[in-house]
Parts: sequence; C-alpha cells; structure tokens
Amino acid sequence: MKNKLTFLFISVGLMIVSISGCNLSAQTQSNEPPAQQKYDTATLNQKADSVLSLMNIEEKVGQLTQFTSDMNITGPYIRSNYEKLLKEGKVGSIFNAYGASYTRKLQEIAVDSSRLHIPLIFGYDVIHGFRTEFPVPLAESCSWNPSLIGKTSRVAAVEASASGLQWTFAPMVDIARDPRWGRIVEGAGEDPYLGSAIARARVKGFQGNDLSATNTVLACVKHYAAYGAVEAGRDYNTVDMSMRRLRSIYLPTYKAAIDAGAATIMTSFNTLNGEPSTSNHFLLTDVLRNEWGFKGFVVTDYTAIKELEHHRVAKDDAQAAEISIKAGTDMDMQSGLFLKELPKLVKQGVVKESTIDQAVKRILKMKFELGLFKDPYKYCDPQREHRDTMTTANLKLAREMAKKSIVLLKNNHNILPLNKNLKTIALLGPLADNKKDLLGPWHGASHWQDVQTVLKGIKDKVSSNTRILYDKGVNIKGGSTSGFSKAVRYARQADVAIVCVGESETMSGEAASRSKIGLPGKQLEFVKAIEKTGTPVVVVLMNGRPLTLPWISDNVPGILETWFLGTEAGPAISDVLFGDYNPSGKLTTTFPRDVGQIPLYYNHYNTGRPFQKNNKYTSKYLDVPNTPQYPFGYGLSYTTFKYSKPTLDKHKITTGDSVKVHVTITNTGKRAGEEIAQFYISEKYADVSPRVKELKGFAHVNLKPGESRQVTFTLTPQKMSMYNLHMKKVVEPGTFEIMTGPNSAEVQTDTLQVVNPQ
Ligand code: NOJ
Repeated sequence: MKNKLTFLFISVGLMIVSISGCNLSAQTQSNEPPAQQKYDTATLNQKADSVLSLMNIEEKVGQLTQFTSDMNITGPYIRSNYEKLLKEGKVGSIFNAYGASYTRKLQEIAVDSSRLHIPLIFGYDVIHGFRTEFPVPLAESCSWNPSLIGKTSRVAAVEASASGLQWTFAPMVDIARDPRWGRIVEGAGEDPYLGSAIARARVKGFQGNDLSATNTVLACVKHYAAYGAVEAGRDYNTVDMSMRRLRSIYLPTYKAAIDAGAATIMTSFNTLNGEPSTSNHFLLTDVLRNEWGFKGFVVTDYTAIKELEHHRVAKDDAQAAEISIKAGTDMDMQSGLFLKELPKLVKQGVVKESTIDQAVKRILKMKFELGLFKDPYKYCDPQREHRDTMTTANLKLAREMAKKSIVLLKNNHNILPLNKNLKTIALLGPLADNKKDLLGPWHGASHWQDVQTVLKGIKDKVSSNTRILYDKGVNIKGGSTSGFSKAVRYARQADVAIVCVGESETMSGEAASRSKIGLPGKQLEFVKAIEKTGTPVVVVLMNGRPLTLPWISDNVPGILETWFLGTEAGPAISDVLFGDYNPSGKLTTTFPRDVGQIPLYYNHYNTGRPFQKNNKYTSKYLDVPNTPQYPFGYGLSYTTFKYSKPTLDKHKITTGDSVKVHVTITNTGKRAGEEIAQFYISEKYADVSPRVKELKGFAHVNLKPGESRQVTFTLTPQKMSMYNLHMKKVVEPGTFEIMTGPNSAEVQTDTLQVVNPQ
C-alpha cells in the first residue's frame, strides 16, 4: 500500500512534498488516534489549489458528484455504474457504503485507477447510532439533555468512522409542528431554542475537536430549509411561510449548527415560497454564505437537482444543473446531472469555470482536512472496526440515553412503578417481544437481532416468583381481532397488564406521512378489550411521532411514551416500569387531541379573539378543545415537584442589559427525582404581535425527597430580541412576562420592564 500512496503523492505534484512520509499503521492503534497536524487556512487553500490546477473539467465535476452504492438504497434508485465512473475520476463521494473492507475496496478503485488518485469521501445516514442503536432523535430530544445527546453522537461517529465512513448526513434539525409528517421522528421537536442546543451538541459530538482524527466524521445539517413545514404534513410537499416565521422559528437551528462548525449542509426537497431549496440563491448564498459565513460545502438531497424539473423551475437537465450550481450547491447527490451537464455548460459559457472551481475547492479542502490525501485508508481498519463497535460502554450509554428519553404521560393512583414481586404480570401487544420495530427508522447499520425486547427486560428485572404471561394479541397493522381472546384471558389472571402498542418502524421517517395519527390497526380496540377485564393497565407506547390518544388518556391509568429506543430499549423500559429509574423526560412536541387541530404548537400567537368559554365569537372548534392532549414540555415523575414564583434580580433594565431569573423547586414527593425546569418569556405588547410564550432556558435539577434548590436563568438581550416590523432583530422596550414552570402550560409569572438607555 505504501507504494500506491507514494505513487499518489508523486502524481499530484507540488502538494506531495509536504504530506509524504506519513506512518500508516500508527494512526489506528489507540481509541483516540492522534490527529494529523492541522492545516491552517492558507495551507489548505494552497493544497486544494495545487490539486485543482491538475484537473480537467470532467474531473472537476466528478468531485462534485456523489452516488449511492448498491449496498443500501435510500431513495429512488438510478443505476450509476459508479465503479466505472470511479476509475474515470468522475465521483467525489460515495454514500450508502460502509464496512472497513468494502470502503477500502471502493477507495482503492478511486485511488489506484483514476488519473489523479483523489480519495473519496464516504457518507451515510448515521442518524441515531451506527451499530449501537440509540433512541430515535425525537426520543433523545425528550431528555432535554444536549450533553448526553452529544455523547451518543460521539459514539455514533466513533463506530461509523471505524466502519470506513467520514461523513454523516446528520443532524436533522428541521423544526416540525406537524405530527402527520413522518420525519418529525428525526428531529428535536418544535422549539428553536431547545432544537438549537441539541443541534450544536450533535455537531460537536460528530465532529469532535478535530476533523483529521480518525474517529470523527463530518456533520451535515439538514434539510435546509424549513423542510419540517411541508403543507399538510405530506412528505416532499410545498413550504410557504412568512419571512418572520422562517427567520424566527425555522432558521435558528440550522444557524446554530453552522455556528457550531458543521462542515456540510444538505438542501431540502421542498420549495420555499415558490423557489426550491436546491436552486435557492437566497438560502444557499445570501443567507448561508454571506450572512452566516458558512465555509464548508453544500450537498443536495437525493436526486434533488433532477427534481427541479418536477418543480417546473427547470425545463431540462441542463437548466436544472445550471440553476442549482449558480444558486450555491457544491455536490450533487445521486442525480448525476452535474456530471452530465456541467462540462457542456462551461464550454458554452453558461456556467463559469470559476463557479465550478470554487465548489471543487471546498470539497478538496475537506478531503485534506480529513487527512484523506495523507492516508485514504485511515478509516478502513477491520481490527478497529471490531474493537470499537458495540462495546460495553456504548451499550451502557444506549441504556442511559434510552431511560432519559422516556416520558411518563399519566400515572393515576401511582400505578407505576410496579413492584418487582408481583405475582402475575400480563405482558401484551405487538411491540412487547418485538426487536425489529424498536430500532426505529434510519437505524444505520444496526442488527435487529441485538435489540433487547421489553419481554427480556422484564424477565431480567422481576423476582423469580413472578409469572409473566406474554401474548402478542394483535398485529400493529391489519383488521384482525382473532388474537384478542388469549390476551384477555391472560389479563384476567394478572395483577397488572402491560400493553405495548404503537407504530411499526416504517410508519415514520422518510416517505411515511400519515393522515390519521391514532394507534394503527386494531390496537385501540385491543387496549379497550384489556382494560375491560378490570385488571389495571399500563400502556407502553412505541412510535415515531405524537399520536392522538383521547380514549387511552381518559381511561388507562398508566401511560409511558417510549418512542423507539434502539438496542437497549427493553432494559431501559423495565428500569422505568419497576422504578430503578424515575422518569424525567419531557415532550418536545405537542400531542394534539385530534388530527384536526394540527398544526398545534405552544409558541403560537394570541389571535384577536382568544378563546373564552361561553363566547361564541372566539377562536375555537365546535368539537374539540383548543388545548393539546399533552403540551410541549410536559412529562411526569414518580415524585412531585413544587415551583415557587419566579423572582428577578432587577425589575427594570435597559435594552442592552441582562437579568437573572430565580425559581425554587422542591421535591414534595417520596422519591428522589430529576426535574427539567423551563423558562419562557413573552413581550406583553410590541409592534409585531408577540407569541404567547417562547422557551429561553431550561435546567435539570436532581432533588431528594423534601429537598429544595434554586435555579437561575439568565435573560440576555439576545434572548429578548425579536424581528421588528422592518425585520431587524432588536430588543423592543416594553413589558416582558417572565415565566417559569414544569411545562409550557403550567407557568407562574413575573414582569420585567425594559426601557431604552438614557
Ligand atoms: C433522502 C433524505 O431526505 C436525506 O435525509 C438522506 O440523507 C438522503 N436521502 C440520503 O439517504
């Protein structure tokens, strides 16, 4: 291999001298491999330029081209004969290929056979773990724990990079207010403040401090922009919204990820106010590069350039390629149109070669930063792959994250936690002994066989005298009730019935929107049949989106929302069911009562006719309350917490000042527990109608029974600023409501005067 590399170095001329002499084996020995010496900006530019100067136009557009391998298909397939193109130097990146050996094989084709021997970048959707599967991102967000989420992203990066990858298409930071949209599962929910904190944590987790380390991967923020606002929650649909909503609610999470150093960003499939993101100069150049100063590269989503023709902003392939590169994209995922059209367009003078050069340079620089020119095989070490994958520590973290992602929605008469010495437990439902679905959508390279089921988790937890009567009883989908009777019989014999119901893993994620978001199939009837036995029921939900659960919420005493928790789902759920972990998760998306209320979110405007009981002409429905089933920020514990009123260290400040907000929280129950305290504000009156509340802080407090602790939030001018009538972000003088509490619907308030400085 050393010979091959020497050849690579010699063939690319000048840059070689400075990068030869690397020690290939040394980089793969330890868990934290030594990073190569980092390049400064000038050196990076010089290195990229030296390669660029050797390239012909076909090779240049080759670097702008990414194809999927056959290993895994994540979109409409276009046969790309990519191995032939690799030899011709016409591919810059491959995705959906992983494994130390397989990526080495493809890398060898690119490095050995192409004229300039430029290494490939390997990308993959590592969304919530690679082999060790962590909870789906929506679940993780319910921990409100960016630092823990940073750790799971770090582990995902270690495992993915050990398997030949340098790039993950994550984090997905799309704000989503519509649970019909299946991709709500991939993000951090509806709030830009919490979403930004999680976006930063994920970027840092993936990228670490050094892209050249062999155990970090490039992050890719997606889907830019506002993909979470597709009309009617139908995937790939249109997005149309005011600039105010875009800038206040939808853009902050992308910006947070970019500010945290995300190396790449992915365009979204949707149009935004009529212009597809993939040809949107405003988004890709004016905002991303000129306002935010993004220095990395932009990849399109899967075949999104070709789709410009369906959006009818391009009449043919040539125009699609032209408007996309001119708007500011750098790499074409899977459409092949850059490769096909750009050389011609350059020759015709339609696209400037300097535009192509700029994009190529961005990609080459990233390859240098990763250290791929120094050692194209540094991520292809089967020994490391074996050693760093599914380690005991990784599984421990998966269980920890899973426990903290669970949200206790209801606990009447303290039905939970259960006693480990119960005589008989009926464990029922299609998700109780299920492995495959518990991984959730986008489950990387995990193996469903590794999943610990709820049945296994409970067996390991309860006393040897406890009898577990397991029966599936019903399928997730379908109309059969023929399995009910055995399950009902079991429920009758038991002290408690634990019913695991929800969605299959294919019912959320990409191309998985639903118009009805109740329990699918006959599962609700099943829960009703079990409840009718009179045995106390605990419903354990597993799903990728908020569901409508009116009957269950009204009639079942215990409800746990567990989402899809990944490899360690079963043990984590059992930890919570039996009280070894006191649940602390809080919802990051509003749960509507009825699909007709959607979009329903906590940070809405007031309307001119806010709802009043017994007043016909106010904003409401005739058939369902305005309020959600469970509000944003909601989640119970096995203990109870009491909040004091918030107090401020000053009640009057000027627009440039900060203020401290204190609140005291007391554990008034009988168990130790963790509370996530929340801090919201709203300006009382402003030129632009203020939202009723907006999250501006949160804090975790661990309290023993009877213990109290004061939490302090800092309200900065940045947090108080909002887009004024002229779309300038300013702090407007006025009165602010300062709110603290356990969730967005139960807050106590103080007020703050903000005045202009003298
Ligand atoms: C399409 C999805 O929208 C995107 O999130 C994903 O990264 C790509 N396919 C690649 O699989």
